[in-house]
Amino acid sequence: MKVGFVGLGRMGKPMALRLARQGFEAVAHNRSQGVLREVASEGVEPAASPLDAANRLTPPRVVWLMVPAGEVVDEMIWGEQGVLGGLQARDIIIDGGNSHYTDSVRRAEALRSQGIDYLDVGTSGGLEGAANGVSLTIGGPRAAFEVCRPVFEALAVPEGFAHVGESGAGHFAKIVHNAMEYALLQVIGEGFWLLERSDYDFDLVQVAHAWNHGGVIRSWLLELVERALSDRERFDQISDYVGGGETGEWGIEEARRLHVPTPLIDLAVSERLLSQAGESFARRVVAALRLQFGGHEVRTR
Ligand SMILES: NC(=O)c1ccc[n+]([C@@H]2O[C@H](COP(=O)([O-])OP(=O)(O)OC[C@H]3O[C@@H](n4cnc5c(N)ncnc54)[C@H](OP(=O)(O)O)[C@@H]3O)[C@@H](O)[C@H]2O)c1
Repeated sequence: MKVGFVGLGRMGKPMALRLARQGFEAVAHNRSQGVLREVASEGVEPAASPLDAANRLTPPRVVWLMVPAGEVVDEMIWGEQGVLGGLQARDIIIDGGNSHYTDSVRRAEALRSQGIDYLDVGTSGGLEGAANGVSLTIGGPRAAFEVCRPVFEALAVPEGFAHVGESGAGHFAKIVHNAMEYALLQVIGEGFWLLERSDYDFDLVQVAHAWNHGGVIRSWLLELVERALSDRERFDQISDYVGGGETGEWGIEEARRLHVPTPLIDLAVSERLLSQAGESFARRVVAALRLQFGGHEVRTR
């Protein structure tokens, strides 16, 4: 089976290489050319455009998009050089990025009228997963999922993929996954701050290591804590700015729409936004108010 890959970024490149190593023929396009030369030496055929990648496939054509969510995905499909020009009925487009599930539903409906199937795939596993096996939640037509099963088997860890529902379900699940991830990251951060501040001289790496061996909260994230804190010099250079936030906010929007209380996720996302604000205007207002009504202490900037 020959697979088209569009987007060889941090995730896409190792995933395309993993496919090639697992015996798939792969043809790939990336906006910037350098990475195409790199993967060519490892058996991935370079394509000049998404359209060129699609044109080099044979039925059933399968194209995997691994680009940022939003207009870029539309451009890769419907743009002048988009994959659609090289596809025919019964071909399949897979979006493995973090698209909003409603965009995926819209795309699937638009493509269905041309007989093209669209699979929305929530990809989890980070950069290590991209190279060594990801976890995939897949939405869209079951028949298209079955056609692509060998591709999912090649990219995922054993048992690490599932057809979870109709169009949008794969990306909806990924929104929930990311919302949970926000809360998990936050609670790990708070716990280690508490250890760090305590009256004991904890070796944080040692504690994380012990917890990772039989502890109830053992996890890959806790293993990453061990790794991050092992290089204390590097850790101490990292500021408390935390990027991202979009998929967490999507999760909260869905929670509100569905009337599901998600206090931990709400707080974790707010904390993320606070870190990005640099300084809290709200806290300054609070300090100013306390000064007004009670003559309480304020500190000047
Ligand atoms: N990083 C993760 O841990 C992770 C995990 C799961 C899912 N995801 C999702 O997977 C997708 C890719 O993530 P990534 O981390 O691989 O991102 P990335 O490293 O930033 O790579 C983005 C890719 O998209 C291409 N691209 C960006 N803007 C484009 C444009 N306007 N036109 C054409 N190509 C464009 C880039 O091309 P250039 O090389 O030319 O810039 C690159 O190939 C995203 O949707 C992301 O949310 C990421």
